[in-house]
Amino acid sequence: MSILRKKLPEQTTKGSEEGGLKKTLNAFDLIMLGIGAIIGVGIFVITGTVAAKYSGPAITVSFMLAGIVCIFTALAYAELSSMLPIAGGAYSYSYVVLGEVFAWLAGSCVIMINVFGASTVASGWSSYVVGVLKYLGVNLPEAFITVPAQGGIINLPAVLISLLISSVLIRGTKESALVNTLLVSVKIGAILVFVVAAIPHFDPINWENFMPNGLDGVLIGTGALFLAYSGFDAVASSAEECKNPNRDLPIGIIGSVLICAILYIIVSGLLTGIVPFYELNNSEPMAYALRKNGSNFGYALVAIGGITGMTTVMMMQLYGTSRVLFSMARDGMIPKFFNVIHPKFATPHLGIIFLGITVAIISGFLPTKTLANLASMASLGSFIFVGISVMKLRLEQPYMNRPFKCPAVFVTCTISVLSSGYLIYGLIQQEGDAFGLCVIASLLMYILYGYRNSKLNQETV
Ligand code: ALA
Repeated sequence: MSILRKKLPEQTTKGSEEGGLKKTLNAFDLIMLGIGAIIGVGIFVITGTVAAKYSGPAITVSFMLAGIVCIFTALAYAELSSMLPIAGGAYSYSYVVLGEVFAWLAGSCVIMINVFGASTVASGWSSYVVGVLKYLGVNLPEAFITVPAQGGIINLPAVLISLLISSVLIRGTKESALVNTLLVSVKIGAILVFVVAAIPHFDPINWENFMPNGLDGVLIGTGALFLAYSGFDAVASSAEECKNPNRDLPIGIIGSVLICAILYIIVSGLLTGIVPFYELNNSEPMAYALRKNGSNFGYALVAIGGITGMTTVMMMQLYGTSRVLFSMARDGMIPKFFNVIHPKFATPHLGIIFLGITVAIISGFLPTKTLANLASMASLGSFIFVGISVMKLRLEQPYMNRPFKCPAVFVTCTISVLSSGYLIYGLIQQEGDAFGLCVIASLLMYILYGYRNSKLNQETV
């Protein structure tokens, strides 16, 4: 069936050689890219809500469970990205292993994760900046910091940050990686200072009611905080720009997920250990917790960490998506426009501009609440495509060169696929209709454009 037509691995590599992206990234840059893409709104905002509403102090367990799912999936990603070092992540892998329609769906998932995710993060970024300005005595007019559905005209800070980040990304990957490394250092520094400031205030009484909503609460919490881990696939998307992808991609993907998991568990444990969990349902839980314990620099500290953290997350989300659009356009699945490389900066600048404007419009004018769950579902969906692709390729092409092999592959990937499916199932109870609509819209676009214009279709007619 032609909707299941596949690209050969050689075809993908050939395309990437012709692509013209500069190879400038090393293992350290990749770990930084991963951390840049992962730590943001999840730890600075969502942790408090999930602890208060679902998991209680057992949010540490929720972070551990979500981290295990991500590490299993990261191992799967690492195997594929070392075998097929091409831009496009889950989209490109699915095209080689599962067939075109699944590649299209995987690509749609990656675009949804990043466009919806970046819009959510832009609005979180705006809240933090507005909060800091207020703290400094500068009150911005409500009409310019609120979307129309909430009575305002535009969320201007969200629009500005979206456009600013796009303009940095256009200038080049190495330059963006440098800015990213600087900002990642600031956010990790802020988190470490939080840890040091919180440790003396830890009170075991706060952990007495460890699982207030039982195991169910912990599992719902795991799904609800999943967005905190999304983003590491941006590392896989940078494959064509790595100096030594076979060695460095697995290090970048697994290293960044592990570091983030450790930081999340420590921060959430301390957070719920220094104030009662039921007090954390606010938009600045880390600052609140430190303030309540008399730490005066707490507010400034978390604000700096939050603002830089969310900036790097958006940067990586837009970076990863522009590379997926680049690959899809190279395959003829979407207009050629997205495959144009800037003559001086060697980046897919038109795709970046398109994404920047899209995210600016969504975050500037629409309420972003439901988008976070949609992004989480899309993220889990792409995990399923990757896990199945790894297992299928092992069965179909057992002798293909695998510079990195996922350990106990069938166990690891089965756990990744089943647990991702289970977490999607939980989230579907809340946002199922919207997710279903997105999938239908994506399939319609495939039928109307992608299927006909795909290069593979032209080769077969
Ligand atoms: N993982 C990203 C964050 O927490 C989306 O901001």
